[in-house]
Amino acid sequence: MTPARRRILVTSALPYANGPIHLGHLVEYIQTDIWVRFQKMRGHDCIYVCADDAHGTPIMLRAQQEDIAPETLIERIGQEHRADFADFAVEFDNYHSTHTPENRALAGLIYQRLHEAGHINTRVITQAYDPEKEMFLPDRFIKGECPRCGAQDQYGDSCEVCGATYSPTELKNPVSVISGARPIERESLHYFFKLGDFTEMLRRWTTAGHLQAEVSNKLDEWFKAGLQEWDISRDAPYFGFEIPDAPGKYFYVWLDAPIGYMASFKAYCERTGTDFDAYWGKDSQTELYHFIGKDIIYFHALFWPAMLAGAGFRTPSAIYAHGFLTVNGQKMSKSRGTFIMARTYLEHLNPEYLRYYFAAKLSNGVDDLDLNLDDFAQRVNADLVGKVVNIASRCAGFITKRFNGRLSDELTDRDLYDDFIAAGPRIAAHYENREFSRAVREIMELADRANQYIDECKPWVVAKQADGEDALQAICSAGINLFRVLMTYLKPILPRMAEQAEIYLNCPPLTWEAVLAPLTAHTVQPYEALMTRVDPAHIAAMIEDSTSSLSTATAPATGALLDNPIAPTINYDDFAKIDLRVAKIIAAEQVPGADKLLRLTVDLGGEIRNVFAGIKSAYSPQDLVGRLTVVVANLAPRKMKFGLSEAMVLAAGPGGKDLWLLQPDEGAAPGARVK
Ligand code: MSP
Ligand code: ZN
Repeated sequence: MTPARRRILVTSALPYANGPIHLGHLVEYIQTDIWVRFQKMRGHDCIYVCADDAHGTPIMLRAQQEDIAPETLIERIGQEHRADFADFAVEFDNYHSTHTPENRALAGLIYQRLHEAGHINTRVITQAYDPEKEMFLPDRFIKGECPRCGAQDQYGDSCEVCGATYSPTELKNPVSVISGARPIERESLHYFFKLGDFTEMLRRWTTAGHLQAEVSNKLDEWFKAGLQEWDISRDAPYFGFEIPDAPGKYFYVWLDAPIGYMASFKAYCERTGTDFDAYWGKDSQTELYHFIGKDIIYFHALFWPAMLAGAGFRTPSAIYAHGFLTVNGQKMSKSRGTFIMARTYLEHLNPEYLRYYFAAKLSNGVDDLDLNLDDFAQRVNADLVGKVVNIASRCAGFITKRFNGRLSDELTDRDLYDDFIAAGPRIAAHYENREFSRAVREIMELADRANQYIDECKPWVVAKQADGEDALQAICSAGINLFRVLMTYLKPILPRMAEQAEIYLNCPPLTWEAVLAPLTAHTVQPYEALMTRVDPAHIAAMIEDSTSSLSTATAPATGALLDNPIAPTINYDDFAKIDLRVAKIIAAEQVPGADKLLRLTVDLGGEIRNVFAGIKSAYSPQDLVGRLTVVVANLAPRKMKFGLSEAMVLAAGPGGKDLWLLQPDEGAAPGARVK
């Protein structure tokens, strides 16, 4: 019995267009893609859309840094994202951008409807403003001393040292990370979405089965705190959509980002003649699912349903949140080489290894997921190569050589095949519930049974028996049919390998339906290995390529290297202005009250300078004394809280323990110019 054909629209969160896709992102896109492929394989009408999230301050600033138009930047990054997804076999029905006419129109429409219904407020607020750069500063673009513990170099919203959260106006000695200027306070009119108007609606919606239990519980805390008005406007300069009838005011990126789901689908509808309203209209009977990471639940489970309801659209059927990726048990880290870009992975390893490994670890909860690289190699080799491919390679040779590719007329050992088929609905239910690790476990148990069957029947012994022909063909045909069932069940996870298997099996696309009938009296193609073992040398090379090197690492102002690409090209004259010198550290000491600084006394070949260096997290004073390093000798002296700094030492790395002082080879003369 075939279940009714469902109409399903699925999205993944829209990746920001200011940096490349990394393995963390891929947890989400692979999870969603597996689910979508499963639905399609089951014969449902399932549409998967996504887009680049192209607006906001970081994108605007990065484009300025690269000296290109933001449109040029988002176009380039958009191409890179598409290529990365395609190479990981993440197959969208449409991939769009939020900086498109469809999105502008839909954002305008939703805003207008919310406005007409009285859900928009305006009021003047005071915010930090960079007087040099002439722009308002988001919290993450202000740094200063923590108002609670005094730690230096903390962001405008929270302290990484003591964990305090505060508003940027409370920071001591604040600076703009863009210009270095001291921010001033400035007033401006802002537009707000009155989320509180939707308190009752959201209370009902968030407890009506649209969310995972742990997510609903989390939301309860937010309800208790009361739903605050949401600031949806930003002042120029901003890369985004200007608010209709509000010159100089732009929609905050998070307003038009989820609307990007609709915009991407709208473009799909125009291309394919699909009825947009049937999916987004108030009374839509279709299913709508958003796959997201746990960091963006607030936007999707509160703002988004409220915006949709307030503007007369349907709300999502469910939001599916997942946890975060760690690598080897830790946060991804550039210095450890575990901040791995999708592209870097692809240069070394087969994407289906990762799809399989993620599937083998994914459940439907919000727990974090660890990519342990030893376990990764071991698991892929043991399961896919050692179990699944092994079944085919143990049988295929005989079928090709002894029977000209011909499978037996009848399937013997039908019971085993029937057991495999009987597992189908259970495995399907695991996919449906996003319990991929359970699906994988069941499939691998079946693979073990298929191998046991071959072990017991010993085709290699039968092959030598004079009257063993029929038995040999029957055993190997049974083995290949079991392999076919396994590849069917694995197809959402391993679409490429499944495609290769279909070519080998010389059969129509594998589906749960098709596999009910075994292949008998059928000729298969010559067999080629369907997957090779993970080579640990390739993993090592990938880590090597992902480890940030001196030539690309800078002391980043905004956090990661990703947000801090190589600065625009300068000419030689600009370079020549910087006087770099070899310096010998003759004394080093702690600075009472400073969290990050050490005081160094450096010798530039007879000239002694005092330098405050933010390297305390990585070095102890006693390790530094006597060491050579490189300083900028002609930097204007800077008055700091603890004294005058008369030069700057150069260090590379993201910060914390991961910081490396530049060091010339032994024998370099203090004071020598570095060129
Ligand atoms: N642009 C927003 C989403 C807007 S959706 C209307 C955004 N972009 S993102 O590029 O930062 O993240 C895209 C998705 O990838 C998010 O769902 C995020 O949770 C997920 N991940 C980003 N890093 C991740 C890990 N390290 N691990 C797992 N998922 C991660 O947020
Ligand atoms: Zn603090």
